[in-house]
Amino acid sequence: MAQLSPSRPVLVVAAPGDTQDSILSAVAAQELDAEVVTEPERLGELWRTASTVIVADDLAELVAGRALPHREGVYVVGPEPEKLSMWSAPLSARVIPLPEGAAWLGAVLGEGSSRSRAPVVAVIGGSGGVGASTLAAALAQLSAARGPSGAALVDADSLGGGIDLLLGAERVQGWRWPRLNSAEGHLGDLRPYLPVVDGVSVVSMARGAELDLAREPLAAIVASLCTWHSAVVLDPGRSKAPAAREAVRLASRQLLLVSASVRGVAAARQAVAGHDLERAELVVRRGRGALPSDLVAEAVGLPVLAELPEERGLAGAAERGEPPARGARRGYRKAVDRLLDLVLSGAGE
Ligand SMILES: Nc1ncnc2c1ncn2[C@@H]1O[C@H](COP(=O)(O)OP(=O)(O)OP(=O)(O)O)[C@@H](O)[C@H]1O
Ligand SMILES: [Mg+2]
Repeated sequence: MAQLSPSRPVLVVAAPGDTQDSILSAVAAQELDAEVVTEPERLGELWRTASTVIVADDLAELVAGRALPHREGVYVVGPEPEKLSMWSAPLSARVIPLPEGAAWLGAVLGEGSSRSRAPVVAVIGGSGGVGASTLAAALAQLSAARGPSGAALVDADSLGGGIDLLLGAERVQGWRWPRLNSAEGHLGDLRPYLPVVDGVSVVSMARGAELDLAREPLAAIVASLCTWHSAVVLDPGRSKAPAAREAVRLASRQLLLVSASVRGVAAARQAVAGHDLERAELVVRRGRGALPSDLVAEAVGLPVLAELPEERGLAGAAERGEPPARGARRGYRKAVDRLLDLVLSGAGE
C-alpha cells in the first residue's frame, strides 16, 4: 500500500452543508488536516498532491467536467445513491453513502494517511479446505509471539464455522462480530473487548446468529486494529460476500494458498480471476507428489513467496482447539515463521 507523507492533507471538495460537515468530522476524528475546496475550478495542484480526495456528490459533476488526470484514492460521498453511482466511473472513484458509511469513510481516511500502521495480511484459499484459516491463525500467533503489541486475527468468512474454534477461543470472554457489526465512527483501542489467545486478539463469528457482515464496520475495525497491533491477519474465506471482498481489498499483502496439484492450480486460477487477486503472492502447500513450485507459479500467473509442508498433526490439533503454531508441529511452524519474516520485511513486494 502506498504510504504518503504526513504533510499531505486530505482534499475535500464540498460546499458548506451536511455532507461537508460529515466529511470534516471524519477527517478531524482521524486527526488529519483537510484542504476544503468549494469551487472545483480552484482544485489546482491539490488534486495531485492530496493524500486522499473526498468529493461531495453534488459537486461530482463539476469535478468530472474538469477532465483531471487519473489518480488513486478518490471517493465520492453523499446521501444521493444515483449521483454516487453516476460519477463513480468518470472520477475513477469509490462510492461511500452518507450518513451510513461514516465509519467506512473514517477507515479510508486513516488508510490513506501516512500514520505508521501494521501490515494487513489476507490469506485466501486457492481451493476449499487447503488450510487458509489454519495459516491465517498460525501467522497471527507467531507474529504475536514476536512482540509486545500482539497481533489480531479477523474472521470475515461468514460460512467458515468460526476461527475461534481453531484457536480454542470459543470459551474466552469478549466481543464477537454481532457486537461489532454496528461499529460506527472512529473506534479506539478494541483490545480490552476482544477475546485474546496466545497474544492474538480475535474478531470471530458467533455461531447460530444469521449474520449479514457489512463491509463498513470491517474497514473501521481493521483500521483500529492496525493502530494497536503489530500485524493484522484476515481470513476472508472463499465467498464473494461484500465483507470478504472488502477484506481482500483492505489487505496490504494478499497471500493465496495453493495446493501443488493439478486441481489445486486449476481452482487457484479461478480464485485469482473471481477475487481480483492480481497483486497476490502464492504460498504453495506441498505434499507427496506435489508439482514443482515454479510450475505452479507459471500456471497460476503469480509469484511464489513461500512453501508450506504437509503437517499431519494439524487436523487433530484443530479438532482439539489447539492453535496451529503451538505444540510439536515444528516443520509447519518453521515454514510459517519464514513466511512471516518475508511479510514483515516487505520482501517480495
Ligand atoms: N499444511 C497442512 N498439512 C496438513 N493438514 C493441514 C494443513 N493445513 C491445514 N490442514 C488441515 O486441513 C483442514 C482444513 O484447514 P482450514 O480450515 O485451515 O482450511 P481452509 O482453506 O480455511 O478451508 P475453507 O475452504 O473451509 O475455509 C484442517 O483439518 C486443517 O487442520
Ligand atoms: Mg477457512
